[in-house]
Amino acid sequence: MRYRTIGTGEHAVEVSTLCLGTMYFGTRTEEATAVAILDRFVEAGGTFVDTANNYNAWVGGNGRDSEDVLGRWLAARGLAGTVRVATKCGAAARDTSRPLAPDNFQGLAPDTIKREAHESLRHLGVDRLDVLYGHVDDRDTPLAETVGAFGELVADGVVGSAGISNVATWRLVEGRDLATRAGTAPWTVVQQRGGYVYPRALPPRTDWVTGDLLDYAASAGVDGRPRLAVVAYSPLHQGAMSRPDKPLYAGADHSGSRERVRVLHEVAAAVGATPNQVVLAWMLGGDVPLVPVIGPSSVAQLDELLAAADLDLDPALRARLDAA
Ligand SMILES: NC(=O)c1ccc[n+]([C@@H]2O[C@H](COP(=O)([O-])OP(=O)(O)OC[C@H]3O[C@@H](n4cnc5c(N)ncnc54)[C@H](OP(=O)(O)O)[C@@H]3O)[C@@H](O)[C@H]2O)c1
Repeated sequence: MRYRTIGTGEHAVEVSTLCLGTMYFGTRTEEATAVAILDRFVEAGGTFVDTANNYNAWVGGNGRDSEDVLGRWLAARGLAGTVRVATKCGAAARDTSRPLAPDNFQGLAPDTIKREAHESLRHLGVDRLDVLYGHVDDRDTPLAETVGAFGELVADGVVGSAGISNVATWRLVEGRDLATRAGTAPWTVVQQRGGYVYPRALPPRTDWVTGDLLDYAASAGVDGRPRLAVVAYSPLHQGAMSRPDKPLYAGADHSGSRERVRVLHEVAAAVGATPNQVVLAWMLGGDVPLVPVIGPSSVAQLDELLAAADLDLDPALRARLDAA
């Protein structure tokens, strides 16, 4: 396993370059399997896990199932404060009697962010959230109020690093500028959907790792711009890179993606690795290294993915992947 630093100044922490997603822990992935996955991840050197305050309300859970499984596991293993936990708020149901949908998200008003942060501390059984993301951007709340609330939580020591997910690059930039000018801690982590394939250009989407986001991240960390870590969720397209039973989704099912998957398989054969491992190695080794959030549902799947952490791609093969 390899490690990298996220956050800035006194809030900087080292995390494993692979982050373990726990979206279905306690719902689709029963607790015993979830615990076995967590144990194996830590045994392999993993130190960064990802959850949210709504995992997983759309597959029959109460929305705190994943945080609760993590909380029990951290306590049982004595790993609270050692394993770094990222959680999210803002996309749980505002009205719990109605279905979870964007028009029923709780949003990112300051009171909501602060209340949900403290609830997450309680469910996880930790003193501090290493990362707290806004799960989805909220354009109905003034941005200065949202970033102000995240900054206060960092100043109070409740949150290590503030972040935002599913956000347009211009909103990320504006939010970070607002926070910096107000003298409060800015978002230093962004989490977007990302992997080796891209969505169609139209309709435009604001939830992916895009070229302009990577360009902005490359410019951060110097000249007064705070450092920015780019975390990428659903890196394997839920299995679509390697499994015929898993279709490409989220607008990514087009001829360009199919060509990329074909080249990916050729490169994997040349390297003697699996397509999933090559995807992760490609993400980890880019000019702006990404932190992939992997979502294995078994220890066997995890074991395959862990091997990618130490896989370095030959520059010629990397160039071939880039060019496809
Ligand atoms: N910020 C956000 O809005 C957001 C959104 C989505 C996810 N996330 C985070 O990202 C994490 C990962 O997301 P994801 O589950 O969509 O990731 P993913 O890695 O793209 O998909 C996970 C699925 O891929 C299949 N898979 C994984 N490893 C495999 C392997 N080695 N071989 C074959 N199939 C494999 C499994 O499908 P089967 O279980 O069917 O076998 C697994 O459930 C989540 O847990 C969550 O923490 C964040």
